[in-house]
Amino acid sequence: MTSEAPYRALVEHSPEAAYVVRDGRIVFANAAAVRMFGAPSAEALLGTDVLDRVHPDDHALALERRRLVLALNVPAPLVEMRFVALDGRVFEVEVQATAVEFDGVRATYSAARDISRRKLLEEQVRQSQKLEAVGRLAGGIAHDFNNTLAVILGHAEFALQELPPEHPLHHDIRAIERAAQHSAALTRQLLTYARRQTVSPRSLDLNESVTATMRMLRPLLGESIDLAWSPGEGLWPITLDPAQLDQILTNLCANARDAISGVGRLSIATSNCTLNAADCLQIPASQPGDYVRLRFTDDGSGMSAETRSMIFEPFFTTKGLGEGTGLGLSTVYGIVRQNHGAITVESTVGVGTQFDIYLPRRMVRPEPVAASAPLFPESTGSETILVVEDQRDILMLTRRALMKRGYTVLAADGPEQALAIARAHPATIDLLLTDVMMPTMSGPDLARAIAAERAIPRLLFMSGFSADLIASDGLLDADTQFLGKPFTLAELFSRVRTSLDTPQPV
Ligand SMILES: Nc1ncnc2c1ncn2[C@@H]1O[C@H](COP(=O)(O)OP(=O)(O)OP(=O)(O)O)[C@@H](O)[C@H]1O
Ligand SMILES: [Mg+2]
Repeated sequence: MTSEAPYRALVEHSPEAAYVVRDGRIVFANAAAVRMFGAPSAEALLGTDVLDRVHPDDHALALERRRLVLALNVPAPLVEMRFVALDGRVFEVEVQATAVEFDGVRATYSAARDISRRKLLEEQVRQSQKLEAVGRLAGGIAHDFNNTLAVILGHAEFALQELPPEHPLHHDIRAIERAAQHSAALTRQLLTYARRQTVSPRSLDLNESVTATMRMLRPLLGESIDLAWSPGEGLWPITLDPAQLDQILTNLCANARDAISGVGRLSIATSNCTLNAADCLQIPASQPGDYVRLRFTDDGSGMSAETRSMIFEPFFTTKGLGEGTGLGLSTVYGIVRQNHGAITVESTVGVGTQFDIYLPRRMVRPEPVAASAPLFPESTGSETILVVEDQRDILMLTRRALMKRGYTVLAADGPEQALAIARAHPATIDLLLTDVMMPTMSGPDLARAIAAERAIPRLLFMSGFSADLIASDGLLDADTQFLGKPFTLAELFSRVRTSLDTPQPV
């Protein structure tokens, strides 16, 4: 008997949960098994039916394995199943079993490991990989769409300018224009989701910005929803494009409004928050560090686990036809990821939903919120502009539009032609308007190549997305002049004028 003691101690103190089952009852459980089942002591487990500790859906599996182990006398292979702790909590385990003699009677000896956390992480990785893949697909389509839409919108505008308003075609062309504008708005949302929308992040104080947006949010929520706003104290500054913050706030508010039937409450709160490695295991795609947390809590309908697992996918909606596009949360997700933040959601059906958005702390002081929008500039001119764009349709459209406004336009369908024109043109060129993404040379590289040979004092980039050429994740330098595609002619004129009138660093 005494010779068994050391072996018994080994099993007793094994980090793996081990237990012995005889005639369906637990007759031995080591310390790790006691912990795993949440039992106060081994005695609480001894003599109990082992099936009480197995999820009912896995009873058949457990019985069949026991039969095999005892009949064949070989260890059963590792299997995954669900166990139930004494308090009813269900968790996933990996179990292995083998036949043993226990106090002279045949029994099964099982070793189990709790794999709930690993399962959770695997699920999170799978989810975020799926979202990334959908994002790449959506971004690719949206990019092509942008160019096509720019051509449709531009030509519709030309046609409208030529036709007197009473002309019968006027109405038809307006309809084309409206439809194209609608598509352009969807495309912009998809680009946001794919993190390819070019943005101009600034340092901002989240409390100030949310307070400023409150006026816009209240009417969105309506009378029957109480909006509570609790700004956290001493909030760290963050870096974000203010237009993106507006998108986050309006999308989350609109969702809360839709989830609340009748009267309800939405609270918005901010706080500083430092995430350590353990926190990051709970928050998908997060890195340890300092964050500012923006929390949205509503007491609306809540959602099922199944709905919750799909809400960040583009076009996922539970709302009726024409009521939701399913792009709200995917847009928010894209914005948060573009800004190196993270988002989590907790929800209980009938109780409500809470979204937490973590935005990384910025280490410098915030700029004050801009007080006034820039004035719409006088949008004609007589300067000379070199336009570089490899999509011929857009090149021709841009050239035609600018010439109508009085500019002299030199058109190049690629960087090589642009360099040749820059060399051959003796007179002044005032502005280089170039696409960012071109097959042989990027817009910024072209600008540098030209600058090495001659002066073109002003620079304006245009792009449907910026990918990694301007900077990673499409984040543009605050003083770069930029025109997003698809653009309306009014936007083109206004941007060109602003670029010509704004002194730029050489
Ligand atoms: N606060 C919430 N409470 C309950 N369910 C929500 C909440 N927010 C989102 N959902 C669920 O997530 C789904 C997706 O939301 P999302 O904002 O992406 O699209 P949508 O609101 O359906 O449409 P869209 O925002 O494009 O008009 C919703 O249809 C809804 O089922
Ligand atoms: Mg929505």
